Amino acid sequence: MHHLGFILILLLIAPLASAHAVPERGVVYQVMVDRFYDGNHSNDGSFYDPSHKNYRLYWGGDLEGLTEKLDYIKSLGVSMIWVSPINDNINRMAFGSAPYHGYWTRDYKRIEEHFGTWRAFRRLVEEARKRGICIIVDYVPNHSNPATDGEFGSLYDNGTKVTDYYADAKKAKLNPYTGSLEAIYHHNGDITEWSGFQLKYANLYGLADFNQLNPWVDEYLTEGAMLFLENGACGFRVDAVKHMNLGWLESFYLRLYSERPLFIFGEYYSLSTERTADLYDFYRYSNVSSLLNIPIRNDIVRTFATFGGLDALARELEAYYSNFVYPNKGLNFLDSHDLVRFLNIAGRKDKLERFHMALALTMMLPGIPVIYYGDESYLVSKEGKGDPYNRPMMVFNNFTEASRIIRTLAELRKTNDALAFGDFKTLYANYSVWAFERAFGSHRLLVVMNKGSSTNLTLALDWPDGTYRDALYGAILTVRGGKSALYLPRNSFYVFHVERPQRVPLIGSLTPYTAQPGQEILIAGAGFGKDGKVLIGRRRAEVISWNSTEVLVRVPRLETLEGWVDVVVETGGKRSEPARLRYYSGSDVPVLLVVNATNLSGQLWLRDNLPELAEPRSLLMSSTGYYFTVAPLPNGTALSASLYEGERWGALTPLNVTLYGKVGGGALLLSEKPPSEGRNYLPVVALLLLLGFLIFRRRG
Ligand code: NOJ
Repeated sequence: MHHLGFILILLLIAPLASAHAVPERGVVYQVMVDRFYDGNHSNDGSFYDPSHKNYRLYWGGDLEGLTEKLDYIKSLGVSMIWVSPINDNINRMAFGSAPYHGYWTRDYKRIEEHFGTWRAFRRLVEEARKRGICIIVDYVPNHSNPATDGEFGSLYDNGTKVTDYYADAKKAKLNPYTGSLEAIYHHNGDITEWSGFQLKYANLYGLADFNQLNPWVDEYLTEGAMLFLENGACGFRVDAVKHMNLGWLESFYLRLYSERPLFIFGEYYSLSTERTADLYDFYRYSNVSSLLNIPIRNDIVRTFATFGGLDALARELEAYYSNFVYPNKGLNFLDSHDLVRFLNIAGRKDKLERFHMALALTMMLPGIPVIYYGDESYLVSKEGKGDPYNRPMMVFNNFTEASRIIRTLAELRKTNDALAFGDFKTLYANYSVWAFERAFGSHRLLVVMNKGSSTNLTLALDWPDGTYRDALYGAILTVRGGKSALYLPRNSFYVFHVERPQRVPLIGSLTPYTAQPGQEILIAGAGFGKDGKVLIGRRRAEVISWNSTEVLVRVPRLETLEGWVDVVVETGGKRSEPARLRYYSGSDVPVLLVVNATNLSGQLWLRDNLPELAEPRSLLMSSTGYYFTVAPLPNGTALSASLYEGERWGALTPLNVTLYGKVGGGALLLSEKPPSEGRNYLPVVALLLLLGFLIFRRRG
């Protein structure tokens, strides 16, 4: 019996353990659950509009419906499904809308009754897995639901009411260091200024903003996410990361990653690539987890839907991607539930051709493509606007040209690693013609497009002599002596590719690329052979599994002061170039680091000689006279941190101030005196006192 139980548990766990997949070799399909397919009419419930006319009500889509349509989704060649939030939402209307979109959670441990149950979720995971697809859940740890409408921020812990925004307000206390009024929630009004303190500590569009540093909240949100992992999710899309302290997210992610390698990506809403403070912080977040490539989306759409040069786009994208350690881990998309769909923006006669080009481009750029449900079937709303009209009921049609493009390029992605891990180099660009090359070792890719009148293009191309066939339309490219010539009709888009065997080990990616000792990471690439060894920060890592393109290892404990360490694969006497891993010391807890701001001003930064603080962290100024930041730090760590001053994107000037403190959980006010000074003298003083006492007694 005992054995049987054990075997059963093993059987249950085994498929999860083997569910690691390399995200870059896949494509994500984004689904808004309510608008996809109604598989169970018995849960249509309240605020339901069977006519599908009122965009602000539930339309019946659910997890059973999604499960029913898995074969359809599979037919597009995708490998991950990002489902809109499915946690239990409020049971009332708020701001004139039902929470059909899923972003107004009230219980992070239950599934929304309109969408299904945990059992339905597990079935979805299992059926998807059978088809080589894994489920990524949209998780919303920044806020629960509207604070001043609906259920007023009501919060439940697996069915038991914990609080609401008004009850919580009565318990709220002023945090002396941050100046935030807080309990379970922050009580600092709505965001009116989109920078600094408010961005993280005020309510986003009136949504009750969590105080993640409250230990109960921290544990509750972590347990909620863990439930999805226990039920088989392979990752998360994390909502509104811009509005949470990066330091808290880091410790949150590390706890999730300690389960198994996951694919977590964040939504950092920033609509342009302009070098603002916002974009600087966007890149800082990307050092910790993947992000949706929101900043480039509008320019991609504009260039194809209305006007704009491909040459300008090429320059912008090259500059954008060069700011990432892992540009291939970001997520490219054309449409989403937050933006007006391409086909609603483009008014031109050739808009379908342009849509196909833009769709293909998002699948060819560095980064993982996201297909928004209905992109393949040209789904639009007749209202033609953004939220909520960009969320019409799904129309299933996988016989379209868009579906063919998605399927063809998703398949190519599985076999051509230049798509998954390659670099990005423009070979030629003018207003309407663009040719770029991507290479990963012996895998190559040449993408050529023309959105203007037909033309001939000659290119210098260091590919072996021969003819190459375009993956999409069968166009032929001939290369002779490093030169190639190509005829490009109007609105053409060609993809040429080469896959030759890779002889030297080459690392394409780490999943995840942030880790602490003991954590498993998946190394993906080529030429890994049958076996070998892996060095992380020059230490040998335990190998869990090995094949020629994927190696699973456990991160060793390192004695390092660096934030990034090298990962190297060795096989058959050959060694790969290093890949970079963001290293954390282990057992990190989120700590509020505080600096007394008397005599200080301007934009300050803090750094220290330990991995977590190796990159300077920007400090926020509080209304109570302190500077502060949140960082994940191992308990008991002694800090001797340095302060810097300087603007984002600019140079930092050291202030020659050293600040000391010891991490002990909760807030840590750093002081200018090393804490050890007093402590070192304590035993000596005690000894002297004791001696004095003894001498005194003898004499007496
Ligand atoms: C971003 C989501 O994508 C959006 O749809 C949602 O309303 C907000 N975050 C708030 O959760």
